[in-house]
Amino acid sequence: MEHQVPVALVVGVTGITGLSLAQALKQPHCLGGGPWKVYGAARRPPPNWFPLSTVDNFITFNAVNSTDTLGKLSPIAGEVTHLFWVTFQFLGDEEANIAVNKAMLQNVLTALTSTPSSRLTHVTVQTGTKHYMGPIHDPGNKSIVLNGHAPPFHEDMPRLPYPNFYYALEDLVASHAPSLSYSVHRATIIIGASARSAMNALMILSTYAAPPPPVAVPLPGSRYTWEHFCDMIDARVLAEQHVWAAVTERGKNQAFNCTNGDVFTWKSVWRVLSEVFDVGFVELDESDEFDLVELMCDKGAVWDEIVEKHGLEKTKLEEIACFEAIMPVLRFGFQHVSSMSKSRECGFFGHADTFKSIRFWVGKLREMKLIPSYEYVAKANGYH
Ligand SMILES: *[C@@H]1O[C@H](CO)[C@@H](O)[C@H](O)[C@H]1NC(C)=O
Ligand SMILES: *[C@@H]1O[C@H](CO)[C@@H](O)[C@H](O)[C@H]1NC(C)=O
Ligand SMILES: *[C@@H]1O[C@H](CO)[C@@H](O)[C@H](O)[C@H]1NC(C)=O
Repeated sequence: MEHQVPVALVVGVTGITGLSLAQALKQPHCLGGGPWKVYGAARRPPPNWFPLSTVDNFITFNAVNSTDTLGKLSPIAGEVTHLFWVTFQFLGDEEANIAVNKAMLQNVLTALTSTPSSRLTHVTVQTGTKHYMGPIHDPGNKSIVLNGHAPPFHEDMPRLPYPNFYYALEDLVASHAPSLSYSVHRATIIIGASARSAMNALMILSTYAAPPPPVAVPLPGSRYTWEHFCDMIDARVLAEQHVWAAVTERGKNQAFNCTNGDVFTWKSVWRVLSEVFDVGFVELDESDEFDLVELMCDKGAVWDEIVEKHGLEKTKLEEIACFEAIMPVLRFGFQHVSSMSKSRECGFFGHADTFKSIRFWVGKLREMKLIPSYEYVAKANGYH
């Protein structure tokens, strides 16, 4: 492989990690031997904000449909050396999540290995810290008493007795060893730029705070998360870890946490966002407990007006910001902190300053016309 250009298939290329991954792979000095050939794939055609120049080819296919997957991917099966799996479907019920996500990855693996000339050697699979926490996002089931691991989380902590599609994906890629190697990337809260990742914490908070409100905006949360540590991951560092593991001997057949390598409190993040969005900083007022989900549930039409008025990319609030996803995170009763020791011991040293990451990605969201820019004059927008 030394003398051949490595070829990537990034499934989920329009998602929060996908775009950073394609950009990393196209760097002149990218690990693996210079710029890669990159096939970017997604279920829907590329949106306007997606820079098509970051991929050599864009493939639209539905991974749930095995016929479609085989039809679209078998033509490149003799070429692709590395599969980067940065997509998921979230149906709510975890047994359903397991079935659909496993079927999608299986369909793609089947298509890429469908020819004797298949060059596929490695699969990176992105999961998350729910691996260690259990079903934090199961709003339908109040009877779940979370009994996750105590942080800081370690890769070798045993699995929890809850169904989790992350476990199913790990088992699926491991079952292809030794003919394929794999790496699992247990990302913490990811921040990056995509209008197709409704769980993007920064996008969620930006749609709430970016349209300059007439008054300072409080952040919902709890005294605990306001004052205790949490971590996040810049999509660029996460992309770097995927690429590193894909081409490094010590990255093979391993799972890695992925964080920026520092920690923050929500209070400090809210201070930074207040600055970035030029809204007043408001101290936590626990007596003023409010629910972001309730507050934002009828703001779709207001968002449409903002989009229109500021010439933003056409987006729907409910598609770009899942407020249900951020609420449990803002109310964690434990410190959401992952160790990066294993990565470092294996030779991965990627890191980022979380506050700089936030400023960078808010800038990107503005540049990509996904949120209003800083300059416009504050007008009451009906949110607050
Ligand atoms: C699956 O994909 C094939 C090929 O694109 C298409 O003809 C078929 O209608 C699809 N099946 C479903 C259930 O969507
Ligand atoms: C709720 O969660 C509990 C504990 O995991 C489980 O036993 C039960 O079946 C779940 N109920 C529903 C409706 O999903
Ligand atoms: C992830 O971080 C947690 C918390 O420090 C740690 O217990 C766990 O071993 C780490 N896992 C990996 C794969 O590094």
